[in-house]
Formats: sequence, structure tokens, C-alpha cells
Amino acid sequence: MEGVHLNYWSLILVTLVILAALRSSYSLPTATTKRFVFNVEWKQVTRLCRTKNLLTVNGEYPGPTIAVHEGDNVEVKVINRVNQNTTIHWHGVKQIRTGWADGPAYITQCPIKGGHSYTYKFTIVNQRGTLLWHAHYSWQRASVYGAFIIHPRMPYPFSYQIHAQVPIILGEWWHLDVEAMEKEMMRYGSGPNCSDAFTINGFPGPLYPCSHKDTFIQTVEPGKTYMLRIINAALSDELFFAVSNHTLTVVEIDATYTKPFTTTAIMVTPGQTTDVLLTANQVPDSSGMFVMSAQPYRTSVFPFNNSTTIGFLRYKKTRNQKSKPLAFPANLATHNLPKMEDTNFATWYLGILKSLASPQFPCLVPQKIDKRVMVTISLNLQDCPANMTCQGYDNKRFYASMNNQSFVRPSMSILQSYYKNLSNDYSLDFPEKPPKAFNYTGVDPLKENMNTEFGTKLLQLPYGTNLEIVLQDTGFLNVENHPIHVHGHNFFIVGQGFGNFDVNKDPATYNLVDPPERNTIAVPSGGWAAIRFKADNPGVWFIHCHLEEHTSWGLAMAFIVKDGPIPSKCLLPPPEDLPLC
Ligand SMILES: *[C@@H]1O[C@H](CO)[C@@H](O)[C@H](O)[C@H]1NC(C)=O
Ligand SMILES: *[C@@H]1O[C@H](CO)[C@@H](O)[C@H](O)[C@H]1NC(C)=O
Ligand SMILES: *[C@@H]1O[C@H](CO)[C@@H](O)[C@H](O)[C@H]1NC(C)=O
Ligand SMILES: *[C@@H]1O[C@H](CO)[C@@H](O)[C@H](O)[C@H]1NC(C)=O
Ligand SMILES: *[C@@H]1O[C@H](CO)[C@@H](O)[C@H](O)[C@H]1NC(C)=O
Ligand SMILES: *[C@@H]1O[C@H](CO)[C@@H](O)[C@H](O)[C@H]1NC(C)=O
Ligand SMILES: *[C@@H]1O[C@H](CO)[C@@H](O)[C@H](O)[C@H]1NC(C)=O
Ligand SMILES: *[C@@H]1O[C@H](CO)[C@@H](O)[C@H](O)[C@H]1NC(C)=O
Ligand SMILES: *[C@@H]1O[C@H](CO)[C@@H](O)[C@H](O)[C@H]1NC(C)=O
Repeated sequence: MEGVHLNYWSLILVTLVILAALRSSYSLPTATTKRFVFNVEWKQVTRLCRTKNLLTVNGEYPGPTIAVHEGDNVEVKVINRVNQNTTIHWHGVKQIRTGWADGPAYITQCPIKGGHSYTYKFTIVNQRGTLLWHAHYSWQRASVYGAFIIHPRMPYPFSYQIHAQVPIILGEWWHLDVEAMEKEMMRYGSGPNCSDAFTINGFPGPLYPCSHKDTFIQTVEPGKTYMLRIINAALSDELFFAVSNHTLTVVEIDATYTKPFTTTAIMVTPGQTTDVLLTANQVPDSSGMFVMSAQPYRTSVFPFNNSTTIGFLRYKKTRNQKSKPLAFPANLATHNLPKMEDTNFATWYLGILKSLASPQFPCLVPQKIDKRVMVTISLNLQDCPANMTCQGYDNKRFYASMNNQSFVRPSMSILQSYYKNLSNDYSLDFPEKPPKAFNYTGVDPLKENMNTEFGTKLLQLPYGTNLEIVLQDTGFLNVENHPIHVHGHNFFIVGQGFGNFDVNKDPATYNLVDPPERNTIAVPSGGWAAIRFKADNPGVWFIHCHLEEHTSWGLAMAFIVKDGPIPSKCLLPPPEDLPLC
């Protein structure tokens, strides 16, 4: 009897030990709550030998990194310590049932006023990799941004030994006050002023005047592999990124795994992220340094700052090499970086991205759709009111639109109005196709009527709708690559091409096997892209161009996903501290 007893208990013990081992090696989900405090405050920052008051989180530029695990509950208390409204958006976090925590001002919440605070509470569900957070009020995201890293609970689906993970946050620096610039732009109907520099982790680097000391340098050990978590937090520019003499293996975009592939450079739009692996396998010259660089990918005729930000990979010396004082290499050439107008590279790169689509990480692209919505993306010109001076093209005012509707921001949060059944701030009649069919990408702007209509028109979808949206660029003012961001959902890019979408031909070419999954898409300049997703996150969700001036001009819309059939598929009630207008 004694023996039997012992065996019985040792069996339980062995089972417990095995479970514990499994738990530590695979870190089975143990939902924890990670708490952060964000103080929105001014900080004096100097770049290019000029000092300005910069809006920051906790005085940091770029802001603090949020690092959590898949499955975690996240709580960020945002305390507004400035005399301006603010909100924060967790860009790409799906916010299942927690739309109240999404962040875009007047879409899912009223702004957090000066002296007030709001705690964003949400859970990370089935996402892993790199995202970003940024302010979503006026143009505050110019400096209020940071990395949002979701560590996986399961091993990576690739076999590289990763020595270290390095956020590479690309941004823009302005000497002027960005808020004042937006006000001026809206007052005169003009375009924005160009930024004065592009930045890597807040540093412009030595190709700009008076900027040597503000250079990002990453030390690497020869032979080791690094994960670069690249984020485009710029306001107005799609960017190319490369590291001289090294290749990059892309493994993840917008917090979804891809089929790994190797490239000399990447293209990343504002709002997009890309995780690449880099092995320090080169033999450096006597400086020990290699240039990393970023510059715009430009398709538009609007002015921009034609300049390049660089930083360095610095190889650690081996023991028998003498370490020398830090000095930049004599040659600062940016090998591997595509030219600013290299649409061929951008097209190749975006075409080669594919979902991993493995049994463990399946690609859940809707095979059949319930609804197809076709949306034109346009820039517009309106006549100048008699009592104003306008500085847009032809002395008119710039606007922008989707299906000829320039989005007008309401004065109350749409989610709040929707939840309270008040529909006086918006209407549910967003057009499901362009009001007028024409040769979208072949328009001679000077001969066309470039006016738009204004409104707050939404699309309303039953819970679970399998939706396809065809985004069609147009030639009003210019054809241009637009980064369109969808809130609250990831989508699959099932097709893209140049010219006009052809409903009779193009769907036959769709990739319904392993299309890339993202939250922000670069719609080809002078072309179209088709995205699909299941609208199964109840709430109100913004769709907009992530080039900031285009959002200001109205290149936006929103959609409502209605509650599902059971309580667990319904929007949660608003938090008690939700800011009110
Ligand atoms: C933008 O540039 C124009 C022209 O150089 C200048 O007049 C204007 O003041 C600038 N805007 C701001 C907000 O500094
Ligand atoms: C681009 O940046 C440089 C360096 O900061 C600045 O001198 C120049 O004025 C900027 N160009 C434009 C078009 O704004
Ligand atoms: C890096 O690449 C460039 C261009 O191919 C080449 O000229 C240079 O010698 C390389 N540098 C090193 C240190 O390998
Ligand atoms: C950028 O400036 C350089 C040097 O002035 C010029 O050669 C190049 O054509 C410009 N590129 C673009 C895309 O404007
Ligand atoms: C121009 O006139 C309109 C109405 O006629 C008025 O609402 C607006 O405030 C005026 N704008 C300026 C800048 O005076
Ligand atoms: C809004 O309308 C729905 C359906 O008619 C109802 O169930 C809900 O209680 C209403 N909400 C409020 C806040 O009145
Ligand atoms: C549309 O315009 C483009 C550019 O002008 C032209 O090449 C194309 O033939 C036009 N397509 C149609 C169907 O008219
Ligand atoms: C957009 O709306 C304006 C104002 O109603 C109209 O004049 C214009 O023709 C429309 N354009 C298109 C492309 O539908
Ligand atoms: C801040 O937001 C509140 C609520 O929407 C609004 O009433 C107020 O005018 C805003 N303040 C500024 C400076 O825009």
C-alpha cells in the first residue's frame, strides 16, 4: 500500500514538474496587467543647433517604449500637463470591444483637456511584433510617438538566434511649431511647410548642418544577429531604409509574421512597422562603422525635404584590436538605399511581402465577401471665400476626400454619440462606390472640376461582415502613393495594380492564400489596392490617409461595426473616466 501511494504522488509530482518546465520554456499565457504612466509635457530639445519647446511624453523624444507580451492587459494613464488638448492612439492594436481606448480625437473619444487624465485600458489579443503609439490630436504626433513592442508567448517561427532587439524609429524634425503650422495651413488652405530633417530614433545624423553629435549609433558584435524593429513615425513621408553592405531579412510587418525574405532595403509608410533580422557579417574598414540610412520615397509633386538621415552600425573591436576614439568614416555614402523616386523598387518590395500562413499562424483572409466598397482617394481644390486669401494651388484651398466626401470632424466623439443612440453628428450614408465613374488615374486636373462635398458620412456594417474595400488613387492634382490606415482591424492585401481597378478582371488575380496582413497599406501611386477583412470588432473605426496633411484636408471616413449576437461580441460600456466634450 505504501509503495502504491508513493508512486501515485510521484506521478503527480512528475506531471507538475513537466507542466512547470513547459510553462517556462513556452511561457504559456499568463495574463498580467502592465501599467504605464504617460505625462504629456513640454521639454526643451535642441537639434541642428536650434532649441525649441517640444511636446513629449515624460520628457523623452522619441517617447518611452511600451513593451508587453501577447495576451497582456495594458493600462496607460495619460496625464495631460500642457495647455492643449491631447489623445494617444495605439496604432495597430486591434482594441477588440475596447474602442473607447483607441484614441483618435472626436472619433472614439473627446480630447483629454489640459490638467486632466485618462487611463487607456485594453488587451493584446493574437498580435505579436512591433507597432507604434502616437498622439492623435492635431499634428502632435510630430514629436509624441514611440515604439509599442509585443513579445510573443510562443517561440519565433524562424530559427535565427537573436542577440538583441533594436527599435529604429524614423521620424521628422521641424524647427517651427507644428501646431501653428497646421493652423496656418487650414487658415490659408495651403500645403504644409517641409520638415527640416528626417531622424533615426530622434537623431538627424551628420548629413545635416550642425548635427554630428545628434547621431544614432548601434554597437554590434561581429557574427551576431540583431532584430531591427523599424517604425515609420514620420508625418508626411514614406521612407526607404537600408544599411550599407548588409542585407535585411524581413520577418514581420505591422505585428504579423511574414514569409522571411532577404532584401537590400525596405519601404515603410507612416504608420507601418517592419521587423528585419541583420547579421553583423561584414568586415568593416578602419572606422569600424557602416552607414544606416533613410530617405523619402516620393511620388507626389508637392514640395518635400530632399534629404537623408543616417546613423551607424559600429562593430565592436575584437580583443587584439586597439579601440580608437569614435570617429565617423570618411565616406558617408548610403549604399543600398533606393533613389527617392524608385517606384520599381517599392513595387517589387510590396509585391514580395506574403503572410507566413503556417498551421500555427494561419492566414485568415475571407475567401468570400458579403460586400465590396469601392473608394476613390482624391486631393481637391475649392474656390477661396471672398473674404479670405488662399495659398493653395491656383489661389484656391486644398482639401482631400474619399468618394468625393471630405470628412468633417464632428464636435463630439462619434463612438459616444453612437453608443447613446444620438445620430445628429453623423449620417450612415457613406457612398459605397464613387459617385461618378471616370478615368480615375488619367485625369488632367486643369480640365476637371476639382471640388468635393463635405460631411461626416459613415458606413454601417452588421457584425461579422466579410468586407472588401478597393482603394483607387486618382489623378486630381497628382497621382500619389497614399498610406491608408484602418483602425480596429487588420486587413489582407489581396490585390494591387496600376491604372484603374477592373471589377471584371482584377478579382481573378487576387491572392487568397498568403496575402500580407497589415493595418496600413501603401496604395500604389496611380493605381489601386484591394483589402479584405472580417468586420468583427464592434465599435466606430476611423480610416484615413497617414500623411498628416491629407487627414487635415479630409482624406478620411469612419465605419461602424454593429454589436454581435451575444454579449461577448458586443462593445463594452465606456470607462468611467472617458473624457467628455
Ligand atoms: C511656413 O513657411 C512660410 C514660407 O516660408 C512662412 O511664411 C511661414 O511662417 C511658415 N509657417 C510657420 C508656421 O512657421
Ligand atoms: C530641408 O532641410 C534643410 C536642413 O535642415 C533645411 O535647410 C531646408 O530648408 C529644408 N528644405 C526645405 C524645402 O524645407
Ligand atoms: C560596401 O559596399 C560598397 C558598395 O558596394 C563598396 O564599395 C565598399 O567597399 C563596401 N565596404 C565594405 C567595408 O565592405
Ligand atoms: C534631390 O536633390 C538632389 C541634389 O540637389 C537632386 O540631384 C535630386 O534630383 C533630388 N531628388 C529629388 C527626388 O527631388
Ligand atoms: C468670411 O465670411 C464668412 C461668412 O460670410 C464668415 O463666417 C467667416 O468668419 C469670414 N472669415 C474671415 C476670415 O473673416
Ligand atoms: C440604443 O438603442 C438600442 C437599440 O434600440 C437599445 O438597446 C439601447 O438600450 C439604446 N441605448 C441607449 C443609451 O439609449
Ligand atoms: C486613362 O488615362 C490614361 C492616362 O491619360 C490613358 O493612358 C488611358 O488610356 C485612359 N484609359 C481610358 C480607359 O480611357
Ligand atoms: C464632387 O462633388 C462636387 C460638389 O458637389 C461636384 O462638383 C464634383 O463634380 C464631384 N466630383 C466627383 C468626381 O464626383
Ligand atoms: C479641447 O477640447 C474641448 C472638447 O472638445 C473643446 O471644447 C476645446 O475647444 C478644445 N480646445 C482647444 C484649444 O482646441
